[in-house]
Amino acid sequence: MLQLGDEVTLYSLVFVLVLLGTRSTVWTTVLTASLYLFVAVFRFPQVPASRARQVLHPAKGVAGSGKVSVIGHRGGGHDAPENTIAAIREASKNGATGVELDLEFSADGVPILMHDDTVDRTTNGSGPLTQISFSDLNKLDAAAKHRLRDKFSGEKIPTLEEAVEECMKLQLTIYFDVKGHPDEAATALKVLYKKHPVLYNSSIVCSFEPKVIYRMRQSDPEVVTALTHRPWSMSRFGDGVPRFSSPWKHYWMTLLDVLLDWAHHHVLWKLCGISAFLVQKNFVSPDYVQYWAQRGVEVVAWTVNTNVEKEYYQELLQVNYITDSLLEDCEPHY
Ligand SMILES: *[C@@H]1O[C@H](CO)[C@@H](O)[C@H](O)[C@H]1NC(C)=O
Ligand SMILES: *[C@@H]1O[C@H](CO)[C@@H](O)[C@H](O)[C@H]1NC(C)=O
Repeated sequence: MLQLGDEVTLYSLVFVLVLLGTRSTVWTTVLTASLYLFVAVFRFPQVPASRARQVLHPAKGVAGSGKVSVIGHRGGGHDAPENTIAAIREASKNGATGVELDLEFSADGVPILMHDDTVDRTTNGSGPLTQISFSDLNKLDAAAKHRLRDKFSGEKIPTLEEAVEECMKLQLTIYFDVKGHPDEAATALKVLYKKHPVLYNSSIVCSFEPKVIYRMRQSDPEVVTALTHRPWSMSRFGDGVPRFSSPWKHYWMTLLDVLLDWAHHHVLWKLCGISAFLVQKNFVSPDYVQYWAQRGVEVVAWTVNTNVEKEYYQELLQVNYITDSLLEDCEPHY
């Protein structure tokens, strides 16, 4: 739970910064008090810790001495075509605790599994999802670009519903990764939770976008949620290379990154009432895990692929991790 000291530090810092900017004690007091009230009034409380624990550490399928969950990234995209029923079955067969699945929509609004907003990288089709109806998506080969395409040929793009039913059958925990479409996603997921209440105990909704999580909790506050974060994501790619060649643009984005990082760690987590924080693996340290533990939030690391790393996150840090492969010592992922 949040300690008093933490809030006092936070609002003192805001107070000092606003005072430096406005040079007015009246305005500073009004603005700081408004921020405090805003968070206090509009925040969602975390779901009960016992239920979050049930989702993050189910009795079945946890690994290592710290009993961590091992989650197949996009179902385990190295071992089978990502975001397919085949991937879900492989992950289960290979001992995963759960799978991370990406929610998208066909042009006619059917919730499906797909990471990108085009079908080009993974299937034999081409074009943006916003222009392909579900009946046309259904004709594509979702294994077409996978290294094991012969073994998995003819695999289809699953609907969200099909994927969820397969996971429930195999008792896999689901980490729903929602990229955008806050309203459609919250509606589609709410329908699923009402139809299959066991999902409240066995799945978590995650997003890079706080708006998506906030919207999800507005439509159903009982759902367990997480924010996903990669520090410096606006100014740099995953491998650290700057996104923008113009120095001004780069510095501006770097400044926004600092603000976004601050907001995630001090305001947004509380506003959304998240139970877990999914963070790029290189930023996870014992102190970092401790920071979140004091707030009743669990760290989940992504994407942990080499055997040495898996050992480290599982045995030393003892945090849940998301991986591309349940079987192989894989290439590092950025
Ligand atoms: C993609 O592959 C499937 C299955 O082999 C096939 O039926 C379909 O016609 C192919 N579509 C395209 C656009 O090549
Ligand atoms: C969820 O878990 C709680 C506590 O273990 C249990 O009482 C409840 O029946 C479960 N709900 C479903 C739908 O499985």
